[in-house]
Amino acid sequence: MTKNLNINDLVRADGGVQDRRIYWDEDVYQMELERVFARSWLFLAQDSLIPEKGDFLTTFMGQDRVIVTRGEDGQVKAFLNACSHRGNIICRADSGNAKNFVCNYHGWAYGSDGRVSDIPLQDEIYPKSFDRSAMDLRQVRVESYRGFIFGTFDDSAPSLSDYLGEMGWYFDTFMDVPGGSELLGPPTKVRVKANWKFFAENFVGDFYHAGWTHAAAIKVIGGPLMGILGNQATPQGAMQFGTKYGHGFNAAPGTDEVFPHIHQGHIAEMWEDWVRQRTPVLKERLGDERATLYNAIWDGSMFPNTSFLRGIDTWKVWQPRGPREVEVWTWTLVERDMPEELKQGIRHTNEKTFGVAGILEGDDGENMEGNTQTAEGFITRDQPLNAEMGIGWEQLDSDVFPSMMSEPGDNEAAQRNFLRMWRTMMTSDSWDEIMASRSKEHKK
Ligand code: FES
Ligand SMILES: [Fe+2]
Repeated sequence: MTKNLNINDLVRADGGVQDRRIYWDEDVYQMELERVFARSWLFLAQDSLIPEKGDFLTTFMGQDRVIVTRGEDGQVKAFLNACSHRGNIICRADSGNAKNFVCNYHGWAYGSDGRVSDIPLQDEIYPKSFDRSAMDLRQVRVESYRGFIFGTFDDSAPSLSDYLGEMGWYFDTFMDVPGGSELLGPPTKVRVKANWKFFAENFVGDFYHAGWTHAAAIKVIGGPLMGILGNQATPQGAMQFGTKYGHGFNAAPGTDEVFPHIHQGHIAEMWEDWVRQRTPVLKERLGDERATLYNAIWDGSMFPNTSFLRGIDTWKVWQPRGPREVEVWTWTLVERDMPEELKQGIRHTNEKTFGVAGILEGDDGENMEGNTQTAEGFITRDQPLNAEMGIGWEQLDSDVFPSMMSEPGDNEAAQRNFLRMWRTMMTSDSWDEIMASRSKEHKK
């Protein structure tokens, strides 16, 4: 255990060097639950996962269990999935449709808005002074962006749209397509003995590992990714981005003839036809820059623990389970207007590559566990980690792209940006402080 933690000593101010304890220490983790997870906007659901009135799903915000429901009025609400009586988990199902949620222990019932709707024998066994309304479940502040639903416990957090900032502009590349995007669920879930940040960082900006870690898988899959096999070359035209509140991504664009993705066979052809047809529509709707990014392979993360891949079409949440374990939840990301055959083909690719036994997921999991477990060593734990690749090459708000941008794609600018956001959240007492500090950093 580390007593009297000074987070500023654990991550260098520019994010380029880190103490291994931030990926290992129990006290750091408890502080993360309070300062990062209880204050950030966290991914909860997508409209397509709870389309009907009464639909619900259960998920986590950090380690807080929550129920997300679509009420009779069509509004989405979220509240704690923990009984106000003696604390039991109220709903153990992953998803379903319900008017009420009834606790298994003594039968207290809650409506789809999280308010207490019945306490068995209340009049006989509770005094008249009993304040039933105080038993309603703690609500989550919920907002959504293009059908993607997020929640925060912090009323002082900026709006979701401000929190996304420039990332919303980039998300529109695949979320603001005609018809929108959707997630195919239910998510697959797998536990990995690794710190959640290693995964989020791997997705926010680690292009560098792809050609090396995944060399064997790329050889099997073939296609446009063969160019980066064995780290023989940095991906052509690839760029890295980091936004104000720590979100970021890599994108390697294709051309009119080249479509970077990892689909195979018939589905690869269908995907390419789809992108070929949609690109001019996107160009018209969103402009040249995002049309270029539309035909690109991306890996990205939204701070703190949501990640995605485009061209592989996966959407993930790294659910923390202590400093040294994570539960990986994976959905498939598709456009709503795609033909059903293409959607199911994409789901199949996603399961084959980044699902529970996915050939690329396994490669990553082994590295993330290794990164975490070396800190078991008393001497090793004192050795710093490095993320200085491309340091000093970042540009702010180029004429073409909002946010911080850096080239080439093999870069650690987005990881440093993510870690600086983490450091700011861990050391700031209020959102006012966080916003002021991040605005200063991202001012041109
Ligand atoms: S703990 Fe839920 S009804 Fe008693
Ligand atoms: Fe990977």
